[in-house]
Amino acid sequence: MGKVNIHTEVPGPKSRAMLARREKAVPRGVFNVTPIYAAKCSGSLIEDVDGNTYIDFAGGIGCTNVGHSQPEVIAAATAQLGKFTHTCFHVMQSEPYVALAERLNSLVPGKYEKKTFFANSGAEAVENSIKLARVHTNRPAIICFADAFHGRTLLAMSLTSKVAPYKEGFGPFAPEIYRMPYPYCYRCPYGLEHPACGLACAKALDDFFKRYVEACKVAAIIVEPILGEGGFVVPPLSFFPTLQETCRKNGILLIADEVQCGIGRTGEMFVSSSLGLEADITITAKSLAGGLPLSAITGRAEIMDSAKAGGIGGTFGGNPVACAAALAVLDLLEKNLPRAKAVGHRLQARFAEFKDRFAIVGDARGMGPMAALELVTNRATKEPAKQAVSTLSKFCYEHGLITISAGTYGNIIRTLMPLTIPDDELDEGLDIMAAGLAHC
Ligand SMILES: Cc1ncc(COP(=O)(O)O)c(C=O)c1O
Repeated sequence: MGKVNIHTEVPGPKSRAMLARREKAVPRGVFNVTPIYAAKCSGSLIEDVDGNTYIDFAGGIGCTNVGHSQPEVIAAATAQLGKFTHTCFHVMQSEPYVALAERLNSLVPGKYEKKTFFANSGAEAVENSIKLARVHTNRPAIICFADAFHGRTLLAMSLTSKVAPYKEGFGPFAPEIYRMPYPYCYRCPYGLEHPACGLACAKALDDFFKRYVEACKVAAIIVEPILGEGGFVVPPLSFFPTLQETCRKNGILLIADEVQCGIGRTGEMFVSSSLGLEADITITAKSLAGGLPLSAITGRAEIMDSAKAGGIGGTFGGNPVACAAALAVLDLLEKNLPRAKAVGHRLQARFAEFKDRFAIVGDARGMGPMAALELVTNRATKEPAKQAVSTLSKFCYEHGLITISAGTYGNIIRTLMPLTIPDDELDEGLDIMAAGLAHC
């Protein structure tokens, strides 16, 4: 017998009652992927308020890489809750903050001395990394990428690429932001094919300095080593070394936004090193504290020390409960990376099979358990099949699988399931997805 148990229509009566309350109390701009209300979560399973059980391939948008409600994480957070919840690190310091900074300094890729400080969300980590890059280099400009997502605050939104719904009507945006095409080989912005392209996308940077912004004005390039919201696009292996060489030559810092692709998501703790990227600043959030709000900014000690005392920080940044939970998350992840790799192999094999079986699957890609299917109405024209993704997502949750879409065209399904998911739950979820693809 499987783990999915759907015994009402979806959404069930209790979820529907909550939806009616929500409509009056919460603005419509706060989006929802499903119309379902959660009651209890454990491992890779979610029980809703009507008693239905779902397999979770969304992980609250990639925040539960170690699984929901892991006993070790709950124990660590509860122990800290019993001591104190908040003093503000700027007023009275706490040990979990320092311990987590030490831990990240040793884990984050980069053979140099590092320092770390904490904020609450991915967007805040992005903002802080830019502040530090600017104060350290005394340069104003930032280069970011097409299809990037960096968050919803003003600077982070300005760095984000997709217009609707993230930017539409919310301007004016922050100045001194320049955008390059991302190495999205399935939809090459230069209309070329790898490797015959000669890595035109990475080499475009020299030309960029002639056309758009002087190299000596650029503080940093911020990049997702693998695009998250943009659709789990993995750059060719030589992209980052080439980009990095040009950056180093021009005194430009590299910021790796590992908010979505880090903390074990690809089967490695951080993905930068697997892609030949040694960033100067690396930012993490999402799964870092197992679902509690926490983000980290880790970088070269001399960059991190560029801001004057009081220039960086915040009231809640590095909350002791979140830091204690994060230490337990990192312990668990270190133990579970082999499992994450095994999940990745199983998942990638099934996705390759889906590509062979369903004409609507134009591309199956990703790295390890960070996998995606790009749906197209026609494989030759690659016309994005956005409606099919909506149909698939509805089919999935009605049959007990929670999924999440991605991509500038909204035509990609990505997987953010807990990396601890057992094989039977993974297979059951993938069988539902296969039935959904057949239904599209
Ligand atoms: C790569 C990346 N950076 C930044 C963010 C923003 O994180 P938050 O929503 O916690 O502000 C996200 C969120 O999805 C993300 O995927």
